Formats: sequence, C-alpha cells, structure tokens
Amino acid sequence: MNELEIEKKPTAMTANNHAIHKWFNFVAGYSPEYVEDVIQEYRTRNKSVGVIYDPFSGTATTNVVANSMGVKSIGVERNPFFFKIGRAKTNAQKILPLIEQIATMFEKIILIHGGKTERKDITSILSATWSESAYTFLGKLFELDDLYLLFLMREQVFSLKGDELDAGFIYLSKLLEYVTFAKTDGIYKAPTSKKHNLSILNAISKTKEDFLMGKDEILTIDNSAEMVFASSVDYKLEQNTVDLVIFSPPYLNNFDFAEMTRMQLYFWKDANS
Ligand SMILES: C[S@@+](CC[C@H](N)C(=O)[O-])C[C@H]1O[C@@H](n2cnc3c(N)ncnc32)[C@H](O)[C@@H]1O
Repeated sequence: MNELEIEKKPTAMTANNHAIHKWFNFVAGYSPEYVEDVIQEYRTRNKSVGVIYDPFSGTATTNVVANSMGVKSIGVERNPFFFKIGRAKTNAQKILPLIEQIATMFEKIILIHGGKTERKDITSILSATWSESAYTFLGKLFELDDLYLLFLMREQVFSLKGDELDAGFIYLSKLLEYVTFAKTDGIYKAPTSKKHNLSILNAISKTKEDFLMGKDEILTIDNSAEMVFASSVDYKLEQNTVDLVIFSPPYLNNFDFAEMTRMQLYFWKDANS
C-alpha cells in the first residue's frame, strides 16, 4: 500500500483501488494509504496504538483502515448520510454476505415493475413522496422511470432492519451514483453537469462487483470501530482513552458537505429543502 506518491495521499484518488473503500467514497476523503502510514509511523515511535479517534469521520476511511490493521477506533460524523455509510463500511464482514440477497431483491423489483406503470401515476406517487424541492432536484438527476424504480427499491430497503438495512442502504446509495446522468461527486456540480450513466440492471451488477472485490479478505476483518452520529463539538471523550487522532477537518462551514450529498439526503428523506 505504501508506494503511492506523496501528492496523492491526502486525496481520495486511490479509494477505488481498495476493497471496502470502493463501496462508497467521496471527493473530500483522503487515501487509505495515508491512514496506514500514520498508524505505522506511530507504531514505529510508540510501539502500539490502542485507540484512534476521527472527529470528522466522513465515509470512515480512518476507521476502515484501523479495522483492517486490527486497531480499535472511534468515528464521529454529523452528516446522517455519511454516518450510515461509515457504519456499513466498518461492519463490512457482516454486510458482505448480504449483498447477493440485496441484489436479487432489487432485480425482482425491476422484473415486476419495470415499464409497467403509467407516467401520470408515477408522477403522482413521486410528488407525494418527496417535498417539492427534493422532487424537483431529483427529477433533474434521473429519468422519471428510473427514479420510480429507485423509489420502489428504497421502500424495500426501509422495510429491512439491522445489518440488512445497512446493506440495502449502502447498495442503493452506490446504485444512485451509477444511475444518475448528472455529476454528483463534487460541490455544486449537480444537477447540470452530465456524465455517462448505466441502466439500473447494469448498475446493480456493477455495484455487486464493487462490493465483492477483495471478498475473502473482507470476511476476515473484525469490526472494532465505534461509529457515532453526533457533532464532535458535543462528543465527550473520556480522558486518556485515545492514543492517536487522524482526521481531515470540515472546510469553513458544513454547508459544502450537505450540498455534496444533496442527492442522497433528499433521496433518503434526511433533508426536505
Ligand atoms: C473532509 S471530510 C472528512 C473525510 C474523511 N476523512 C473521509 O476520508 O471520508 C469532513 C467531514 O466532517 C464532517 N463534519 C463537519 N462538521 C462536523 C462536526 N461538527 N462533527 C462531526 N462531523 C462533522 C462533514 O460532514 C464531513 O463528512
């Protein structure tokens, strides 16, 4: 992992080369190599690291690496979307075995409902589902028929519980990225900038491949991360319980991170406006 040029270490450019990190990452994340370097450097100087703390855990790069190196960690994140993504990624060993069944569940929805509902019915269902701002925004990112199928998948995911819910959540979140024809990976790009998108069926199999990369290794990684949904301003750490803090801070204010995840916050109904 450590041959990466130094310029790439503080960027998310390598995340897609790594199992679990590939499940979901975003432009403001840093590389798994960076976290591994810091932990190794600390071990060289201090012999062992007990607990790592990331007060701005985002998509949990710090905690996923800590898990793979057998180190306990705490991650605090206040964006509900990132928090749930981080919880699923750190629990990869439990989530991975559920991926096939989630894919089958989504494929069935397409088989049963694909192309079978009148446009006017779709419009009335979807406009009753989301707030006006959310529906208008999502309508600019997806074909209407796709948005309807994604909505049906979301309803199925909402009916799940525990690890299955987390598996469905992260799977469908990744699917949204492949199915939208807008660039949603950075600040203020959506809804106008266009990219190549996949059909929902192709996106389901591409997403499954992403999850299964490094399968055998993932199944051996225990989860020793505690992921907390809170503002780190309010989160109280016990004195002398943390050895090492690894983080990248929010920039200026948190607006950018909410903006960056507008598609997901609207889709999952974590935000209405
Ligand atoms: C630069 S990103 C961290 C990215 C992370 N290192 C990764 O690789 O995914 C900063 C994160 O801080 C979060 N954040 C901002 N203010 C926060 C607060 N008061 N408490 C917890 N998290 C916060 C943002 O939502 C964002 O996910």
